[in-house]
Parts: sequence; structure tokens; C-alpha cells
Amino acid sequence: MPFTLEGRTALVTGAARGIGRAIATRLAAAGAAVMINDLDEAAVSEAECGLRTAGHTVAHICGDLTQPSFPDEMVKATLDTFGAIDIVVNNAGFTWDNVIQKTADEQFQAMLDIHLVVPFRVLRAASGYIREAAKSEIAAGKRVMRKVVNITSIAGTQGNAGQAGYSSGKAGVIGLTRTLAKEWGRYNVNVNAVGFGLIDTRLTRPLDDSSNLEMHGHRIRIGVQPAMLEAAKKASALGRMGSPEEAAGAVLFFCSPLSDYVTGEVLICSGGFNF
Ligand SMILES: NC(=O)c1ccc[n+]([C@@H]2O[C@H](COP(=O)([O-])OP(=O)(O)OC[C@H]3O[C@@H](n4cnc5c(N)ncnc54)[C@H](O)[C@@H]3O)[C@@H](O)[C@H]2O)c1
Repeated sequence: MPFTLEGRTALVTGAARGIGRAIATRLAAAGAAVMINDLDEAAVSEAECGLRTAGHTVAHICGDLTQPSFPDEMVKATLDTFGAIDIVVNNAGFTWDNVIQKTADEQFQAMLDIHLVVPFRVLRAASGYIREAAKSEIAAGKRVMRKVVNITSIAGTQGNAGQAGYSSGKAGVIGLTRTLAKEWGRYNVNVNAVGFGLIDTRLTRPLDDSSNLEMHGHRIRIGVQPAMLEAAKKASALGRMGSPEEAAGAVLFFCSPLSDYVTGEVLICSGGFNF
């Protein structure tokens, strides 16, 4: 092992399934205590149970991150449970796609809320603890690195037809990442983003009539047109989609001491695929 996360506490949002669950698993396997969040109670309880059975230190807090007071409650719950927050992964997200002329205000705003406003609120909620902890460590002559990883997408770095809201939210969180890297460098926090291409989760399964998500009182179609999916696989340098475990590997780098001198960066994990 080139590093261990023993003694570190991580908070991962949207960790009941998909990439978030794989990130939580990687962090826990590296030794971190992990607080996992999701709005899906059954799935997040099951994820917690799986991690605990594997011998990891884990707790969960169920709740909708877009409720304005919830990020504060989640950070408080993490501190009450584990006494620290050393790693924050803003992963929760979903797609609500359409061409611009068919995109309602509510739909566009929902994409900005989950992909940009939520990471802002989560990090603002954690800022009090992070700054105070860093100040006492620095006063004691210690350099303790903390880690923030915001999840973005090649839709945010390159744009993608049919995703005006999603792409805008994912582009916005890069601005938040680079700004916090500058604000929090003095507190020894590495703030980076990982941008995914096509990772094999429910968001990128071939679109069919069962690919629905209940969100904000709407039934939202998720998934990708099968023909588009095949074309995208062929267009990627590696010729395939990535697995959630591979996606989590890129995030683990930014959560580990291997990235202690990297901040304000966006790492693209797309198998060489570009829109
Ligand atoms: N799958 C891909 O190809 C891909 C590509 C680029 C970026 N991403 C990003 O990766 C992240 C994870 O996506 P995934 O593919 O694992 O999707 P997923 O649907 O498998 O998992 C996302 C999780 O986030 C949770 N979530 C959504 N809104 C929430 C809210 N308001 N409060 C709490 N939890 C909430 C969901 O319940 C779900 O469990 C997202 O930010 C997504 O935009 C995914």
C-alpha cells in the first residue's frame, strides 16, 4: 500500500449506488471512516450494511441534499458521529435532459441546484470545522492535508447537446473547485474535481421505458439512446465504458496523500472519450 487513510474521516454524497458507492467502498477499504449520504433510504441502508459486513467503519445519513438546511445537518451528523471531516466528495447527481426549447425553468434550476448549489452548501457547512482544525494544526507546527473532490463531467468541460442544465451545473462546479483551491490552500486543503465520461451506472444504461427516476415530484427519464451509447463506446480510445470502480480510482487519487501537491485541477476519467 503506498498510503493508508487510517484515522481519516470521509463524507460521500449520493453513495447508495453507482460511482458514489464505489468511492465510499474504496475510501473505506483504504482505512477511512465513511459517512455516506443518499436520498434513497433503502439503498443507502443496504450500502451501509454491505460496508459494515466487510469490516469497515461506516454510518449513513439519509436526506435530500437540495433541501437548504440538509447540508448543515449532514456535516453536523458527520462531526457528531466521527469527530472529524478530512475528505469531502460531492458526488450526488442526476440527469434531466432535453434540448433547450423543451427545458423548463424548474428543470434547468434543478440541474444547477444538485450539481453546483449543493456542493457550495456542503463545503460552506464544512468550512467552520475545516478552518478551525487547520488553524490549530498549523499552530502546533503540523501540516495535515484535507481533501475535497467535486464530481464533474465531460459535459461540463466540453458541453453536450441536450444537456444545457446539466452541462452548466457541471461547468459551474469547476469554478467552485478552482476558487476554493485558492481560498483553502492556506488551510492545507486540496480541492480538485474529477470529470467522468461514460461510466456504467443507471444514468448511462440503454434508454428504455423502465429508465425512470422519481425526483422533485416528476418522473424523469434517464439513460442513453442505445445507438448513441454504442457510437460513444467506439469513439473512446479504450473502446468501452468505465466501471464505477475505475471511476472511483481517479477519485481515490485526489483523496490520498499521492495528490498532496495537486490542487485546483480537473482530472478527466473518460477512457479517452470526448463529446
Ligand atoms: N455515470 C456517468 O457516466 C457519469 C458521467 C459524468 C458524471 N457523472 C456524475 O457522477 C455522479 C454519480 O453518478 P452515477 O452515475 O453514479 O449515478 P447514480 O444514479 O448511479 O447515483 C447517484 C446517486 O445520487 C443520489 N442523489 C441524487 N440526488 C440526490 C439528492 N438530492 N440528495 C441525495 N442524494 C441524491 C441518487 O439517489 C443516487 O443514489 C453524478 O454527479 C453524475 O452527474 C456520471
